[in-house]
Amino acid sequence: HVHALILAGGAGTRFWPASRAVRPKQLLSLVGDEPLLCATVHRVLPLCHPEDTKEAWARVLIATGSHLAEATQALLPELPEENLLVEPLPRNTAPCIGWAAWRIAAKDPEAVVMVLPSDHHVSDVEGFRRVLQAAVRAATQGTLTTVGIRPTHPETGFGYIETGEARGGGALEALRFVEKPDRQRAEGFVASGRFLWNAGMFFFRAKDMVAAIRAHLPALAEGLDAIREAEARGGEAGAEALARVFPTLPSVSIDHGVMEHAAALSVVPGDFGWSDVGSFRTAWDLGEKDPEGNHAPEGSVLIDAHRNLVVDLRRKGGGKRVIALVGVEDLCVVETEDALLVVPRERAQDVKRVVDALKERG
Ligand code: GDD
Ligand code: MG
Repeated sequence: HVHALILAGGAGTRFWPASRAVRPKQLLSLVGDEPLLCATVHRVLPLCHPEDTKEAWARVLIATGSHLAEATQALLPELPEENLLVEPLPRNTAPCIGWAAWRIAAKDPEAVVMVLPSDHHVSDVEGFRRVLQAAVRAATQGTLTTVGIRPTHPETGFGYIETGEARGGGALEALRFVEKPDRQRAEGFVASGRFLWNAGMFFFRAKDMVAAIRAHLPALAEGLDAIREAEARGGEAGAEALARVFPTLPSVSIDHGVMEHAAALSVVPGDFGWSDVGSFRTAWDLGEKDPEGNHAPEGSVLIDAHRNLVVDLRRKGGGKRVIALVGVEDLCVVETEDALLVVPRERAQDVKRVVDALKERG
């Protein structure tokens, strides 16, 4: 059996004011009209069960924080309630991946779990599914497996995977996993031609992740044992243990906590129009544009305006505001109920400085 765990607890700062603590990137429709989280689920459902959609939904787990639980559930009415893993406090990705692995391993230790970020864009969905199928096959052999993207520049916001010999079935041996190197190392990795970007997706048999966490994060394993034991007792015990134990779990990413130390790793190289939608700049790159290069909601008035991105989240609430741009180029204009952002597209990365400035103000 193949299960999907979708990580949907992250907070976004580069999409202020569209993203907030209670409305992070995965809940926004930044590219196309579906929120990134929904697009993620729809991409992987056929891999969980090709014929029976209800069965497929039963094998999807979504991990998120308690502050996002309601909004997340509202977007996914088909998700069985017990498949929403609600973390009392954000503890980064290793604890929630472990929680899911422990739960699945208790029923079916051989089951393969696909862990997927909720906030990426994929343009070639069929190609994406073929790569994931190869990754699932590699994981079935007992290696922790990732998907690797050929790097185009020395990005320091990604993990890097050094590739080795071919393992068959489209997978390569992964010699080394380096999470978010500094600029100089990243440049060396790209120049060597041997490294791929980690796409943030992980594939493993439930029992292999349990073993890897026991080996590399024993304190986490101990906490997860306690949660699992209480969940198995049924009734209120599970919820009680979760509230008590989860906040004490080590806050660590799966990348630093497990992948950097794991022994047997595989990577499946993939090329399916992947983007982590890092900023409004990327949202403009990926979005559909009019002949003038503007990506703007219907009803906007654009006069002599070129290559602008307009995002209006007020419309969702039925607002009737008209946005007009005259004689401007290469801007991002983002409007929400309580904020307005105007930034040149090339400086979209600096939006996180607004968040810092607001924090300082208190
Ligand atoms: N449930 C839950 N709880 N989800 C979380 C939490 C948490 O505490 N923290 C982060 N997430 C979710 C995010 O919403 C996202 O979907 C995913 O986990 C990855 O977290 P990010 O915070 O976006 O990680 P990153 O982008 O810095 O790095 C990861 O992704 C890169 C590719 O985009 C790493 O895996 C890198 O190695 C990789 O290159
Ligand atoms: Mg990310």
